[in-house]
Amino acid sequence: MSQLSKQLLERRKKNIPQGPFNTTPAFIKEAKGACMVDVEGKKFIDFAGGIGVNNVGHSHPKVVRAIKDQADSFIHTCFHVAMYESYVELAEKLNALAPGDFQKMTMFANSGAEAVENAVKICRYATKRSGIICFDNAFHGRTQLAMSLTSKIKPYKLNFGPFVPEIYRMPYAYCYRCPFNLEYPSCDAACADYLEDFFITNVAPENTAAVIAEPIQGEGGFITPPPEYFPKLQKICAKYEIPLIIDEVQAGAGRTGKFFAIEHWGIEPDIITIAKSFAGGMPLSAVTGKAMLMEAPHIGGLGGTYSGNPLSCKAALAVLEILFEDGLLKTAQSLGETLLEKFISFQKEHEIIGDVRGKGPMLGLELVRDRHTKEPAVKEAKKLVELCYEKGLIILSCGNYGNVIRTLMPLVITKEELDKGLSILEESFHELERQ
Ligand SMILES: Cc1ncc(COP(=O)(O)O)c(C=O)c1O
Repeated sequence: MSQLSKQLLERRKKNIPQGPFNTTPAFIKEAKGACMVDVEGKKFIDFAGGIGVNNVGHSHPKVVRAIKDQADSFIHTCFHVAMYESYVELAEKLNALAPGDFQKMTMFANSGAEAVENAVKICRYATKRSGIICFDNAFHGRTQLAMSLTSKIKPYKLNFGPFVPEIYRMPYAYCYRCPFNLEYPSCDAACADYLEDFFITNVAPENTAAVIAEPIQGEGGFITPPPEYFPKLQKICAKYEIPLIIDEVQAGAGRTGKFFAIEHWGIEPDIITIAKSFAGGMPLSAVTGKAMLMEAPHIGGLGGTYSGNPLSCKAALAVLEILFEDGLLKTAQSLGETLLEKFISFQKEHEIIGDVRGKGPMLGLELVRDRHTKEPAVKEAKKLVELCYEKGLIILSCGNYGNVIRTLMPLVITKEELDKGLSILEESFHELERQ
């Protein structure tokens, strides 16, 4: 590590608390596409995408242009004080894109957690009920309500209580480690049917304002439910007139090869939350849902000073153009196929890879010490990430035990960068085995 990096790290340690964590010691000077260069001039292939934010790549020229042009016109008026067309245009586009042949409306916020908070507020207001059903392994953010909906205790919840009341947590469709000890497909997605039992033992449907689920659990380990899961879940929710919120903050905006990940399951959620890659790196989140729910809260009941700020709205419009008109969604689908093929070949060669799962280029490799006992390979996953970093690949782990390696690389990654990144990953698996 150079003197400059050491000094920066020392200044960081002295002035910034440890709470806002760092997964690598890198200080970045510039980043383009799927490549980052640190202050020492070391190049990194980026398989992390700023935790799923850079689907269109670092500093995509169209996003940069949109931000610059908007900054030249005006930076902030606050939508609640003086409106601008980009907010309206973006809402129109999301309303048209979200699945469902019914009237939809959209409001904007700044972060994923804020979108989740607003979705819950809207459902509570519209249904006049208070209970929220969420899931084991879920991650919905770090604000008090979003954290209360989040499952994993350490590091997200430890010592941060008391938590928001009226939150009920049920098992999720984690087929590799089935919470009901069943096997897919003979289980017939019994974990979705379990919601009916849950209403008897945990919270009444009459008191349930919403069920909130990630289409693929992101921080929880890229856990991907089988095809029957969401259709079943939605059917039960509909039976009791309970809105189903699908949290697409990590899985949305093209990450899975479709704009909304839930499109893979063919259902029409009542509300969708989206953030991260949706605005190409600018802070922006959205809540899109059935007009009759979205319209429920009174004037002034929702909002925020920076929510849907003009720079972010223009950046998001550019992202939509890149995904749909420039064909990046299609690229994502073929990237997903390439990655899956590669990871299945890795799995054949490396005993430590217990499961390969996901949709499109949103793939996770669950590492286990033993394929029979499925003991999580916690230290090994950490070591693998470190080995990759030393060789110039930034990649992240996730999961309750941190033993799932995940792919969140920019979808614009070049063939050369992809090949290099994958060969570093493969080399690191070999090195791990030798240790
Ligand atoms: C599914 C999901 N929801 C919500 C959030 C919170 O988003 P933010 O960090 O922007 O508040 C995240 C962040 O990783 C997420 O993955």
